[in-house]
Amino acid sequence: MDAVQTPIIPTIGALIRETPGTISLGQGVAHYGPPQAAMEAVSRALGEHSINQYQPVAGLPQLLDRMAAKLLAENRIDIRSGRRLMVTAGANMAFCHAVQAITAPGDEIILNTPYYFNHEMAIRMADCVPVGVATDESYQPRVDALAAAITGRTRAIVTVSPNTPTETVYDEALLREINTLCRERGIYHFCDETYEYFTYGSARHVSAGSLPDADGHTIAMYSLSKAYGFAGWRLGYMTYPEHLAEPIAKIQDTILVCPPVASQVAAIAALDAGRAYSEPHVRELASIRDIVWSRLSALAPLASVPAADGAFYVLLKVETALDPMTIAERLIREHKVAVVPGTAFGMTGGCYFRVAYGALQKATVAEGIGRLVSGLRQILT
Ligand SMILES: Cc1ncc(COP(=O)(O)O)c(C=O)c1O
Repeated sequence: MDAVQTPIIPTIGALIRETPGTISLGQGVAHYGPPQAAMEAVSRALGEHSINQYQPVAGLPQLLDRMAAKLLAENRIDIRSGRRLMVTAGANMAFCHAVQAITAPGDEIILNTPYYFNHEMAIRMADCVPVGVATDESYQPRVDALAAAITGRTRAIVTVSPNTPTETVYDEALLREINTLCRERGIYHFCDETYEYFTYGSARHVSAGSLPDADGHTIAMYSLSKAYGFAGWRLGYMTYPEHLAEPIAKIQDTILVCPPVASQVAAIAALDAGRAYSEPHVRELASIRDIVWSRLSALAPLASVPAADGAFYVLLKVETALDPMTIAERLIREHKVAVVPGTAFGMTGGCYFRVAYGALQKATVAEGIGRLVSGLRQILT
């Protein structure tokens, strides 16, 4: 564990608690909760003894059926053709399962940088080596550089699209190339699709697992945390090649035994509500996003924000030689606004901050961005 970075969200959280009144643009959570029907389903299930008992390792059959139907209809992934499906306690757990299932200590997994910090941490926890490959100036993956980074120890390439911390939706052609590259080089393609519903404008999410010949090497991970306001219920799922059925079943059986039953009951009702539940929230986020962009763009030339179309983050690049953690601390203590330093996402060459705007109502975001803009102006000039 000494090799694993200290989790940044609790660190920022502690600073926020020491500074009451701080507006957090830190953690990536949705501001809304689950569909009402999900809570009603849990209330009803509380009277049934089965909710207190262990249930099947891979998840409740009724939930697996709904997930399979969703994957077929929305992601064009047919789990009947050589694939397996498992419910996990969130997409983070799905990622940990996947790493453990395919690696031996010392193996390498390639991450597109900036990466999601918990991915890097999970790889180190498995005693493996995260290999960061820089994305291009638009934060799109560079397939040539990914290919060049593959060694005899490489076991997988990870893509997160729509992305955190950059908001980038990866080009379909690039995802295809990466998936093909992985197949040709005999490694896995891990696809974290946590933000699949969060795209804006003409951007479109594509599941690499739907591509021809993807079945044998693609591990796709999903989450109800953002789409259904389920973060605290810890509910995600993964689909993976048939040949990983046994290793992944062993891991789940040992770590989780079975996914939390109450959360699964809630998830069945959430998936019945379906994507339509998220859509008004995504539209609302689109209008919040416009405010965030126009306010942060005004920081030029002190800072810049790249154009991107997904999730609910902005990766702000600040022109300074100051250390990002020092600035983040000053922003909280002196200006009562919290953001996450880019170093947590592997952005070491320069000063970057992830600004998350999913957790707040429009007025609070506007106030928070106002504090960020004036705070950065004061600190930097
Ligand atoms: C890319 C990505 N994957 C996974 C997660 C965690 O998802 P879950 O709550 O389902 O574990 C997050 C949360 O911020 C995320 O940004």
